[in-house]
Amino acid sequence: MLLHERIFELALSRGIFYPSNEIYENYAGFYDYGPVGTLIKNRIENLWRREFVRKEGFMEIQTSIITPKSVLDASGHTSSITDPVVECLKCKKRMRADHLMEGELGIKWDGNFESLKKTFKEKNLQCPSCKANNLGEPYVFNLMFKTGIGVELQTAFLRPETAQGVFVNFTRNFRENGTKLPLGVAQIGKSFRNEISPRRGLVRMREFTQMELEYYFDPDSPDFEGFENVRKEKVRIMTKETQKAGKRKIEWKTGEQLLKEKICPNQIFAYFLIKEWEFYKMCGISEEKMHFRVLFDDEVPHYSSGNIDLEVETSYGIIETIGNAYRTDFDLSQHSSHSGKSLSVKIEGKEFIPHVFEVSMGVDRLIFCLLEHTFREKTSEKEWEWFDIPPQLSPFQTAVFPLMKKAELDEKAKKVRDILREEFYVFYQKSGSIGKRYARADEIGIPYAVTIDYDTLDEDTVTIRYRNNARQERIKISDLILKIKENVDNAKVS
Ligand code: GLY
Repeated sequence: MLLHERIFELALSRGIFYPSNEIYENYAGFYDYGPVGTLIKNRIENLWRREFVRKEGFMEIQTSIITPKSVLDASGHTSSITDPVVECLKCKKRMRADHLMEGELGIKWDGNFESLKKTFKEKNLQCPSCKANNLGEPYVFNLMFKTGIGVELQTAFLRPETAQGVFVNFTRNFRENGTKLPLGVAQIGKSFRNEISPRRGLVRMREFTQMELEYYFDPDSPDFEGFENVRKEKVRIMTKETQKAGKRKIEWKTGEQLLKEKICPNQIFAYFLIKEWEFYKMCGISEEKMHFRVLFDDEVPHYSSGNIDLEVETSYGIIETIGNAYRTDFDLSQHSSHSGKSLSVKIEGKEFIPHVFEVSMGVDRLIFCLLEHTFREKTSEKEWEWFDIPPQLSPFQTAVFPLMKKAELDEKAKKVRDILREEFYVFYQKSGSIGKRYARADEIGIPYAVTIDYDTLDEDTVTIRYRNNARQERIKISDLILKIKENVDNAKVS
């Protein structure tokens, strides 16, 4: 069984995620998070907030999901966020034309729609479903979900990225920043793309959560204040040169090298790559299984003049989990001309349209990678599968168990639980063998388990057990909060 199949089974049985609307029809590409998955997701979002908003002194906003067509015409999404589709005229199945071409002919699509049509005409491909050689002409399919506003049903779409809501608020946020640059504006929220054939669980969803950061700056001053602190830090990266040579070689590069070798156009780009690398490590993603990749010009989105993606190795293969895009003044210029409201700024007598560097992370893909990378097989010491989730991201920071099902132990354990609940999410279970309850806690990645026994009643001490090595320690109840807090903050398990 492949690891992602195992993870899916565990996700269902441990309340992490499951297909949406299961009791009715289940459309691919929609998943709900259960109680454990929701806690993990909230924690990832809050860690991102801490690292990319609070510590950087940026602002976070929340904008509308339903977006008028005019906004998306300006941003280019009504014309550019498309995939080619082909329909079998016999069985009516519709599918991604480029995927079919690549699968059947081994030809990777170059992005040119006319050349794709030509190939289909020449090769007369077979429908993979009914095997008839009766495919229609490929056509372009827009991936946005369309809706209508009010009784007039004014055309609108569910946003395909959170970024546009940020851009249309630029003038207000610029004022809120004291009419100064640089300015970082973050948003976490749902985005929507009507994928033609969503596959691979949380990796390609039709409704998904993004954590996006739009960093506005003066293109004549692309330095970044914090860069000095990370100049010597390293990331793994695949440059264009090594990809061109067909080697797909991954190299370690310092922040300094990223600049010197012109892999990154400026300090801003280099700073955020290093920051993302650290963030992913905090999320339990292993360094040997992730790397940045510089995209070729024909791979970058319509709004970008250069992209570097973070890619992670999983049992599905390599998946893209972060997009770093140099959006230049594309979006603000487009919104200026389409809305008729100038989005240029005047700073020290110079008038210009700010440039934007964007960090775009998919939360759901990160959760999937975290689950795969922290999954641990059974061993002779630990006879159950478990997750080595970093304490900062564990669904519950601690478990509390009375050693036996006795009223006096339960009463005391509940008191300890309630003290800890002032600070943490606490998993509480009073029945079952203590071994089984430790296993249950390990299985959802809880780093500590606190056990209340008869000595607790006399001495106010408890046993704390560490998930990763099953070591046990006796400590005072009054020291518990501090101990767990310190460990969680320092991402330590024992
Ligand atoms: N904002 C970039 C993206 O959604 O892909």
